[in-house]
Amino acid sequence: MARTKQTTRKGSSRRPTNGAPKDAIALLKADHRQVEEWFGEFEKARDSKRKATLAKQICNALKVHTQIEEEIFYPAFLEATEDEDTHHEAEVEHNGAKRLIADIEANTSDEYFDARVTVLSEMIKHHVKEEEQPDGMFAKARKSEMDLAELGTQLQARKSELEADGSLVGKARRLFAAA
Ligand SMILES: [Fe+2]
Ligand SMILES: [Fe+2]
Repeated sequence: MARTKQTTRKGSSRRPTNGAPKDAIALLKADHRQVEEWFGEFEKARDSKRKATLAKQICNALKVHTQIEEEIFYPAFLEATEDEDTHHEAEVEHNGAKRLIADIEANTSDEYFDARVTVLSEMIKHHVKEEEQPDGMFAKARKSEMDLAELGTQLQARKSELEADGSLVGKARRLFAAA
């Protein structure tokens, strides 16, 4: 049976087609889903080599993700919404996660390794919920004047740069010259 072709929808869809740039929130959510998947695999893994590989992937991805949020998305959020409580809590949660990540990276074979990764998973689960819940940071960003398409482009560019040159990870870029 021949299918009737749908009429072209007016306006742009929020969901990009393959290859189209993601807006800021779609990009950050995709990072969240990737890390959740790896945490799930870590939980099921029995082989210590596999666990170490997954933990490394998770830590690297989280370091890049937190850095692009802190350099680009969070300042834009604060400027647009002036919501200091949401912004500051997110930054404090990042700092806690980063300390634990440093611990995981420094001690990959001691008896606390699994416990550290499990606690990191719980911390990130909580933090992602704060960002994605209905009245959370991303919802507030959507309601604001933030240019999410432009920010998505900036986030992707910085993410690619950090992934290509690991030495830049952890070294914050000065975005704004002092006024
Ligand atoms: Fe995030
Ligand atoms: Fe975050």
